[in-house]
Amino acid sequence: MPRTAIIGTGFDVPERVVTNDDLARWMDTSDEWIRERTGIEERRWVEEGTTGAAMARRAAESALADAGVAAEAVDAIVLGTLSPDHFFPGTGVFLQRELGLRDVPCLDLRAQCSGFVYGLSVADAWIRVGQYRTVLLVGVEIQSTGLDRSTRGRDMAVLFGDGAGAAILQATDEPNRGILSTRIHADGRFAETLWADASSSARHPRLSVEDLEAGRHFPRMDGREVFKHAVRRMPEVLGQVLEAEGLTTADLDLLIPHQANLRISQMVQKRLGLSDDRVYNNIQRYGNTTAATIPIALAEASREGRLRRGDLVGFVAFGSGFTWGASLVRW
Ligand code: COA
Repeated sequence: MPRTAIIGTGFDVPERVVTNDDLARWMDTSDEWIRERTGIEERRWVEEGTTGAAMARRAAESALADAGVAAEAVDAIVLGTLSPDHFFPGTGVFLQRELGLRDVPCLDLRAQCSGFVYGLSVADAWIRVGQYRTVLLVGVEIQSTGLDRSTRGRDMAVLFGDGAGAAILQATDEPNRGILSTRIHADGRFAETLWADASSSARHPRLSVEDLEAGRHFPRMDGREVFKHAVRRMPEVLGQVLEAEGLTTADLDLLIPHQANLRISQMVQKRLGLSDDRVYNNIQRYGNTTAATIPIALAEASREGRLRRGDLVGFVAFGSGFTWGASLVRW
């Protein structure tokens, strides 16, 4: 059975930088509060006219160039997002069209912050059984258009940013290369702990004037509950993939955790006993870009020369659902 190698990475973020001081002009918050609680210094927000599909295309083109393969080599697209350009169809088909591809299947994946790890699991299974040889995996998010920019929404609005990250996954017979193991989980008991209630098909009508006035179309969360579960589940699931391969944290060359909050990453790092140089964080510059955080961080780490052939790289994610997962890759 072949393994799945990550042969190229790419990312795209909007040019518009939104600093903590910018946010403090719209809501009652401060640079100090945001840095202290989250580590975030700035994030990118799209200008009107930029779609998720367009960012996804730029990230995908960069990943294809990095891999040295043409778009026509892509056999399937898997796209993770919680902020699709439209209710339906999924952003994947818009990306396919932007790339000039036809016929290849497009799977939109709704696993929120765990979208990239869930996508790795699906794409890896397809590749291993020989269904597809080359899969384009993208995480893309436009959070900024869905945030409550008033003081009412400050706990959420300061956290999130926009962006896209992409990876080209391809079958390889090279020994000692590729995805070793992936584990994914969910616990729907916590579905409303981090969610957006409206607009939704469960509501009649899907979106009412009252919903708008009450702000039910904005995401809401119990931040402390999310924090508590994230710092427990991420080390736990990483332990599962390491154990499956007979490895330990001492074998990890680089861990790329989902970028939800720098304090969460630091606590996970501490629990795993990893030194600073073995954990990649870029939340300071981008905030939480949900499904896009891991592929953006992976593409940046790759461009900074942080990944060498043979390195053991770990991905770990936790988010709304709750969903969580981890993957181990021999680079
Ligand atoms: N600026 C200033 N004050 C803020 C604020 C902001 N942006 N957001 C919330 N506050 C206030 C609260 O209103 C509260 O005030 P009160 O004590 O007068 O009621 C106070 O700060 C403390 O709020 P609390 O929610 O207890 O803070 P916290 O220490 O838990 O930090 C988070 C809040 C959101 C930073 C933190 O809970 C967190 O990061 N959780 C995980 C969230 C996450 O990662 N979500 C995505 C998962 S994928």
